[in-house]
Amino acid sequence: MVSENAAEVLAAWETSSQYWNKHQSLIEKMYAPLTRALIEEAQIVAGQSVLDIGGGAGEPSLTIARAVGPSGKVTFTDPTAGMVKAAREEAERRGLTNIEFHQSAAEKLPFANDSFDVVVGRLSAMFFADVSGALREILRVVKPGGRLALLVWADRELNPFFNVITEILDQFVTAEPEDEDALAAFRFARPGKLAKLIEEAGAVTVKEHTLKFDTEAPIDVSQFWKLRTEMSDAFRTKLARLAPDEVSAVRDAVLKAAAVYFKSGSMIFPSQVLIVSGRKAVAEE
Ligand SMILES: C[S@@+](CC[C@H](N)C(=O)[O-])C[C@H]1O[C@@H](n2cnc3c(N)ncnc32)[C@H](O)[C@@H]1O
Repeated sequence: MVSENAAEVLAAWETSSQYWNKHQSLIEKMYAPLTRALIEEAQIVAGQSVLDIGGGAGEPSLTIARAVGPSGKVTFTDPTAGMVKAAREEAERRGLTNIEFHQSAAEKLPFANDSFDVVVGRLSAMFFADVSGALREILRVVKPGGRLALLVWADRELNPFFNVITEILDQFVTAEPEDEDALAAFRFARPGKLAKLIEEAGAVTVKEHTLKFDTEAPIDVSQFWKLRTEMSDAFRTKLARLAPDEVSAVRDAVLKAAAVYFKSGSMIFPSQVLIVSGRKAVAEE
């Protein structure tokens, strides 16, 4: 099924790209445990050719470019022009030469069949407009026997990094009933949901596991408010519907509720994601 609000979602990511670019180094630090877990799950080693789907402001591509080394190669993709620009500029700043950039969505990858050893996606699969089509496309471009590993958010309740704001905002803005299939952060939070789709797309040895990690950064609670209300289109959209005094009231309530996740000028949110992986069958499988 192809989502009807795909164009809106992409437009929102285009707007978000300036903030993801602005906060690139913080995002890299906060989600470094996720990149490490993806590298481990997909068994990425030097010399491999790796495709990153929905690479945002550059991760996990930039880290993987170092992991595969000069004999390997990373292909970064994202459908949003602003994200591609941010990631490309960061790669140039770092002098990385084994990475190339394509503005493309997962549903239509501009690559030949059997091109990559590994395909990864960090926190991007939830936004695929046609998830089954995208998964078939990913399996088309990975080599027989090659791996795919996709990382998605686990349940909202397990992720106060989101929920501490959502719970308060929803007291001020009438929340629409949540559609489990909407193109949004928690679309694949239900265990087994993405794994089943990956299996139906034709992957073999599909596995899912939960990763608990801390979303950590050297910022205080008011910097957290700024970071989250810039990065998240959902928060930006809801806040835009409020009067200035209501925005202040939400902010005050969030700063109070979130204080428990801050100590000595540092942020630590307990967090959970699911990592779903599989392989493309070789002919005799
Ligand atoms: C939450 S961000 C994750 C970015 C990055 N991978 C990270 O972990 O920091 C989601 C990304 O998915 C991208 N995206 C949206 N729709 C997509 C699609 N159909 N195919 C591939 N990527 C998509 C967005 O442009 C955005 O950059």
